[in-house]
Amino acid sequence: MKPKVILYKKVDSEVLDYLNEICNVVYFEKLNAENYQKFLNELKDADGLIGSGLKVDKKLLDQAQSLKVVSNISVGYDNLDLHELSQREIIATNTPNVLNDTVADTIMGLILASARRITELDHWTKTGQWKENLGEKWFGVDVHHKKLGIIGMGRIGEVLAKRAHLGFDMDILYHNRSRKKKAEERYHAKYCTLEDLLKESDFVCVMTPHTPETEKMISEEEFRLMKNTAIFINASRGKVVDETALVEALRAGEILSAGLDVFAEEPVRADHPLLTMSNVVTLPHIGSATYETRKKMAMFAAENLIAALLGKTPPAQINS
Ligand code: 8YV
Repeated sequence: MKPKVILYKKVDSEVLDYLNEICNVVYFEKLNAENYQKFLNELKDADGLIGSGLKVDKKLLDQAQSLKVVSNISVGYDNLDLHELSQREIIATNTPNVLNDTVADTIMGLILASARRITELDHWTKTGQWKENLGEKWFGVDVHHKKLGIIGMGRIGEVLAKRAHLGFDMDILYHNRSRKKKAEERYHAKYCTLEDLLKESDFVCVMTPHTPETEKMISEEEFRLMKNTAIFINASRGKVVDETALVEALRAGEILSAGLDVFAEEPVRADHPLLTMSNVVTLPHIGSATYETRKKMAMFAAENLIAALLGKTPPAQINS
């Protein structure tokens, strides 16, 4: 008998075909209040779970009697309680590497859009406000030859450093748990303390995963240390930043502007103060959202899931 898996995210048809070859797939395009009870009923005897963003914790796992693998279609896995999964000998997997370039492109986009005020001026142009030559009031700041501080120099950080250094002649500072020799040699990235990075960078880009240790790691004190001309960029997880402190820092002119792809609560509330600020570029968590990359991520997640169900070690297992 084929193993039963629940797919709770829309994926490319090739991925679905691949899953269907080996598994009996119960498919939910997305989970919502209407279909959640049906999902829980299906979960009782499911062998595998594949999708992204679902909180997989003790409460949910208590409903699942046969689960062998939880495959995230994302590199981040802050939605998974790894301790609970390991205790029950359930394999957890993610999709590293295939999204590195795409997410780094998104971050460069946020850097350029915030510095050159691209979204603000797009709105200005489209609303017919371009009546004479652009005045100084609308000037941006340069990106090239500036200092980029990367907090959390992981796989995505390195390809961001490559773009910024080789493409935009930026000086790279980084703060990380361990030294990254490749980034230091190839992109002249300079390792420094968090405090020095915050004080010296023109662009502060936070790239750490969300864990209990990194929760709100960028707060009042960190914004106070940044230059008044600094631009703050976040495309990792919203909860790494204290959003109240960010709003205050922007209001008080402690930093110049911000570019955000992620929020503490997603989707972000329509009345969130960050959405009312013209010096904040906001995106709806599009980091990896291209046709090509989302397909690669879904295929990778399917390969992880199937390997686990066939008793093999999945290429990207995250627990032991
Ligand atoms: C999306 C991401 O969250 O991979 C991650 O960790 O943040 C993004 O790629 C995810 O894939 C949403 O579907």
